[in-house]
Amino acid sequence: MALKHVVLLTTLHYILLCFIFTDATSENHICASSSGVVVSYEWVEKDKGILSWIMNNTGNSISTFILVRGATYQDSELVEPYAFGAAYYPAYIYNGLGQYFQGVPVPLQEYQSLGSTPLGILRLSSQQFWTSFVFTLSPGQLFQIEEAGYLYHDDVLTPKCQGVYQLSYLGTFDFRASYSVIEQCQAFDDAQPCPPSPFSIGSAVYSVPSSVMSSMFLPSFKDNFELSFCTSNALFSLPSFRRLTPQSVHQEKELESYPLEKHSNDHPRSYHRNHLILRIH
Ligand SMILES: *[C@@H]1O[C@H](CO)[C@@H](O)[C@H](O)[C@H]1NC(C)=O
Repeated sequence: MALKHVVLLTTLHYILLCFIFTDATSENHICASSSGVVVSYEWVEKDKGILSWIMNNTGNSISTFILVRGATYQDSELVEPYAFGAAYYPAYIYNGLGQYFQGVPVPLQEYQSLGSTPLGILRLSSQQFWTSFVFTLSPGQLFQIEEAGYLYHDDVLTPKCQGVYQLSYLGTFDFRASYSVIEQCQAFDDAQPCPPSPFSIGSAVYSVPSSVMSSMFLPSFKDNFELSFCTSNALFSLPSFRRLTPQSVHQEKELESYPLEKHSNDHPRSYHRNHLILRIH
């Protein structure tokens, strides 16, 4: 079927640490991790394909996890499930929407409700590393993050939560990351500069359960994360460039190979965040 193309979902990143939910009538497809993190969603603007993932740590221990989700269109899989954040992370870095963290994971903080969703590096084997958002919730903590892109032409896609996978922190390491600037950064936001490719980064690294497959990092497939054992004192921090003027959401022109969407990621609230530290050799 021609539907077996890749559509990338985009993140709006209006991340909210929420404790109250009202819309009981919305669709609510659920998946859960072994540790009791329950993920569901509700539509925010269904006609625009914008939803909000609701992550609820119902377990009794701190939990670090990834969300693997996709979407179906007329009962066919249109977006192959992949880990949230594996697409566009370089753009998120420059937009102040995503950030690599170092050290033991800590529960999502208040300032992250306005951006800077944690990115992490996932170790699938000794030679194989991928990247995506890594969420950490304390027991009872609820986290909500919006995501856009659930549209195919003018039709709304049905989100499909494939799984919530529990991670274990392995340590913090330096990596040399190469990526497709066109597909992973400019396609999301050509108004922003992109990190150079390759760039070096220090990141928390996590092990994944054996059910996590490399295919779950599909948008990152042409990317390469190489462990680097060189260290350098040459640290510099990048300011975050947050667009001030909203850009309208417009849909993919053609479902060729990567029908990427651009959208507004602007929001009016102020925010603060840690500086992203990139390491250069
Ligand atoms: C989160 O989980 C707790 C415990 O199961 C439950 O009482 C609460 O209603 C859940 N909250 C949401 C928004 O799903």
